[in-house]
Amino acid sequence: MTVTALIVAAGKGERLGGGIPKQYREIGGKPVLRWAVEAMLGHSAVRETVVVIGQGQQDSAAAALHGLDVGQFIEGGAERADSVRAGLDAVSGDAVLVHDAARPFCPPEVIDRLIAPLEFFEGAAPVLPVGDTLARASDRLGEAVDRSGMVRVQTPQAFRLDALRRAYAEWKSEAPTDETTVARAAGLSVAAVAGDPALEKLTTAEDFRRAEEWLAGRLTPRTGMGFDVHAFSGEGPIMLGGIAVPHSRGLAGHSDADVVLHAIVDALLGAAGLGDIGEHFPPSDPQWKGASSDLFLRHAVELLRTKGAIIDHVDCTIIAEEPKVGPHRLAMRQHIAEIAGLRPDQVSIKATTTEGLGFTGRREGIAAQAVASIRMGLFG
Ligand code: CTP
Ligand code: MG
Repeated sequence: MTVTALIVAAGKGERLGGGIPKQYREIGGKPVLRWAVEAMLGHSAVRETVVVIGQGQQDSAAAALHGLDVGQFIEGGAERADSVRAGLDAVSGDAVLVHDAARPFCPPEVIDRLIAPLEFFEGAAPVLPVGDTLARASDRLGEAVDRSGMVRVQTPQAFRLDALRRAYAEWKSEAPTDETTVARAAGLSVAAVAGDPALEKLTTAEDFRRAEEWLAGRLTPRTGMGFDVHAFSGEGPIMLGGIAVPHSRGLAGHSDADVVLHAIVDALLGAAGLGDIGEHFPPSDPQWKGASSDLFLRHAVELLRTKGAIIDHVDCTIIAEEPKVGPHRLAMRQHIAEIAGLRPDQVSIKATTTEGLGFTGRREGIAAQAVASIRMGLFG
């Protein structure tokens, strides 16, 4: 079964207020929308992720999702249901997972639980029990509502695509707040599977504060270190931090011999406990001959992302008598930040000589060491 994730992110976040729509606010240093999209992309069953955005939100969406493999951006409508309809027109595949961008944390098990019933049901939704007493109220409290058999319905909600399209085509009442409402009205069978408190929707400032606290309790800071050396050989320029630095001599290596990127890749892999660069890109493999090390960094960042890691900072020291690093430092930081989805101020590049001592002092080669600080461990 091919599954497409459809994330609706075209809302204005009016209840939160403050100008910036809530899906573009940050939790744990990452926009809410990015969390939601990464949760979908990180699940092996999701083939494509389509994001519905508001008019004029192209730049915000592009910035929030920079570097992620988002299939399409679709323009949404005035109500959530209009945004879903616009998205449903654009997606393909057998099944669709409709999800609110305002629910940043989606445990992969919930997606498993939603997809499995689609063999027998036309849809499935995550639900949670109602813990509090339910009652009608305006300015004063009215009668209590029997809460037995009541649930709260979350997103993502999974549907066979043709069935949900049919249900929306039949829906003529006022704007529904989710897809199960539309599906049930059209008589579709919708399975109720266990939801998760992590999927709570962010609506108010208090929700954001709680989500920030929840996240802090789940992520552990981790550090990784990397080290690399390449010998001078042949002619320059040399690649350092993804930048071609003019130099009389080149660096020997199977790939482009970028010591900075190699040390950073090893630091990132180390922080996440994902082995080392040689394991992922064996020098014996001819496909990496002359390869740009940008590729290695991109892959490492992608691996960390699928493990739910947040990269906080990368710091690298280049150990060399020459060439001078200073004039290229900013370009390196920007280049690395761009690939890793970071801001340049989260990437540090330093340089030192070894006062003429050792192999670097004898100008036989260049060494680099790096430290990566990440946070990891959101879902187990
Ligand atoms: N949504 C949408 N298009 C709309 C309205 C909402 O795509 N016209 C999306 C929101 O971006 C959010 C989800 O639907 O991810 C749930 O909506 P809600 O929590 O109501 O978000 P907002 O409408 O943005 O917030 P508010 O109602 O406070 O303005
Ligand atoms: Mg709304």
